[in-house]
This record gives sequence, C-alpha cells and structure tokens, in this order.
Amino acid sequence: MNPIMILFSGILADSLPVLQLRAVVGEIFIHELERDGFQEYFTDRQGQAPDSPITFHANLLDHPDLPQWLRYVQRSPFQMGYLYGSATDEDVGAQTIEVTAYNRYTYEIVRQTMVISIVPSPDGEMPYQADFFVKNWNVEEVLPTDVHELFQQAVDSMWEQEGLVVVNISSALDRGGRVPLPIENRKEGVYIKVASKDPFTECLTEAKSPENRYRCKLEQQPVITCYDSFSSRFRVDWCNLTLIDLRDLNTTKLVPVYGDGILESGPEFDPPDDASDREFFYDFLLIFLLLLILGLLLCLILAYIMCCRREGV
Ligand SMILES: *[C@@H]1O[C@H](CO)[C@@H](O)[C@H](O)[C@H]1NC(C)=O
Ligand SMILES: *[C@@H]1O[C@H](CO)[C@@H](O)[C@H](O)[C@H]1NC(C)=O
Repeated sequence: MNPIMILFSGILADSLPVLQLRAVVGEIFIHELERDGFQEYFTDRQGQAPDSPITFHANLLDHPDLPQWLRYVQRSPFQMGYLYGSATDEDVGAQTIEVTAYNRYTYEIVRQTMVISIVPSPDGEMPYQADFFVKNWNVEEVLPTDVHELFQQAVDSMWEQEGLVVVNISSALDRGGRVPLPIENRKEGVYIKVASKDPFTECLTEAKSPENRYRCKLEQQPVITCYDSFSSRFRVDWCNLTLIDLRDLNTTKLVPVYGDGILESGPEFDPPDDASDREFFYDFLLIFLLLLILGLLLCLILAYIMCCRREGV
C-alpha cells in the first residue's frame, strides 16, 4: 500500500457503534477488546487476510491517556486486549473512552467510543478486604470472567460466605514486581483483591499469626491448616497476603498533613530581609587550605616514591 492510501484509510477510519458499559465502584470492571469485532471493519473494505495483527490504543475522550482507575493490557497483537480497573467514589458519573484499533498489516484504523457509567456500589462498602498475590498467572490471564470467578471460588473455600466480590486485579509489574526471565514459563504474577461484608475467618488471619510472620521472615511459607483446600491452580504467596479492615482505616481518615517547607496560600512570598550576614572567609580557608595541603602532601609522597624508591636506586 502506498503512503497516500495509508493516509487516506487513516482519515476515512470507520467507527464502530457506541458502546454503553457500566462500572460499579468497588468492583473490578473488565472490558474485552475483541479482535474479531474490529477485524470485520477492516476486512469489509479491503478483503484482507482475516487474521491480521491488531493493537489498540485507549484514552479518555479529548485526553491523551486513560483515567487513573482504568488500565489497558494486551499481550500480543494476536491476542485480545483488555480494559480493566476499579473505579473509586471520585469517578462516579459517565466517562467516554475512545478506543483506536490499528491493523498492523494495512495501517488502517478503526475507532470505537464507549461510554462507561460509573455507579456507586448498591451493596454499600465492603470493609473487609484481602489482597492475594498469585505467582503463577499473568494479569491478562485472570481477566476472563471464568478465571477470576474460579479464583473467587477458591477464596470462598477459605472465607466461607455469600457476598464475596473481586475488588481489584493488578499486575505485579504495576506494584514493583520485575519482568520474569523468559524461561520455564515464568509469570509476572498478579494481585487480586477480594472483599466482603463479613469478617475474616480464622483461616485467613492465621497467615498473619506471629509464628507465620516469623516463618515468612525466614523465607518459608507459613503453615495454614486450611489452605490445602485452596485450588492448586493458583499458587498464592501466603506471606504477601494483606488483610485490610477499612473500618479501622476510616476512623483515622487519612488527611494529608503538610510538613514544613510548604508555603501557606496567600500573597506572594516575601523573603525576610532581617537575616544576619554570615562570614564565610574561615570556611573558605579551611576548605581551600586543607585540600591544598593534602594535595601537596600526596604530591610529595608520590615524588618521593617515584624518585627515591624505584628499583635499583
Ligand atoms: C487497584 O490496583 C491498582 C494497581 O495496584 C491501584 O493503583 C488502584 O489504586 C487500585 N484501586 C483500588 C480501588 O483499590
Ligand atoms: C512480599 O512481601 C514481602 C514482605 O512481606 C516483600 O518484601 C516482598 O517484596 C513481597 N513480594 C512481592 C512480589 O510483592
């Protein structure tokens, strides 16, 4: 394809119908960017090979990037892309996301606009939250509904109750993890946060007992009597389990405390002019002379070694 045509097809990009989506505060939101859906719009006009690589770019309408709560992941141009994230109370309302799909063979682009209505959680707050670190999965592998539901069931077996929700899923890479070596099928790891209205069971709190903390310090896995029931498909690092009780946090609401060095808002800063003069002459002498003497001394020693201490002299 010549550059003119590329330009042309770029301008004449098709748009998919606007999509209406819904996100609930405090629950994971996942939207799959199906390659097939976009593929049709490419092939209709061009009759291209049906399986061309596609990459996506997503941004908030009229902004360069996505809103803070939303992330995008796609492992390779031959795989599905995902928009995922967990909205907070501040995001309630409607947000318009623009997704651009690029066909990497023909450089065609197709746009899709989606309106995400973010609504407050109907169940109210889920104060008990547990953050699991699963070592043997990548983030885009747990995003399909059946997989994270499987995980939720596994958690259910330890934390027996009804209303368990997945609050957040995030890649370990976003939380300071490292890219694994490309051997032995190593995975990046993923954090999955699950929340409930009901308190933690003993089984969960057991991971945080003093003995188990001690074992974690020695880099051993803690002994938890009930974790055998956990599905073996998920290798959870029990030392990295975080249990959060939001009710404790809320009583000590985090208010930013401004330290020294931040000016109070008000008129322009007026530097004080009553500061006394400072004498720097002696500091100068000390620094300058000391180094000079030291340098001379080293010079002398070097000269002595070079001239008087050579072999044969
Ligand atoms: C979800 O996880 C991401 C990545 O760690 C974090 O930035 C974000 O604040 C989390 N959102 C919520 C609602 O916990
Ligand atoms: C797991 O937790 C330990 C401390 O509890 C921390 O040093 C380590 O970095 C964590 N590992 C990951 C992958 O988060």
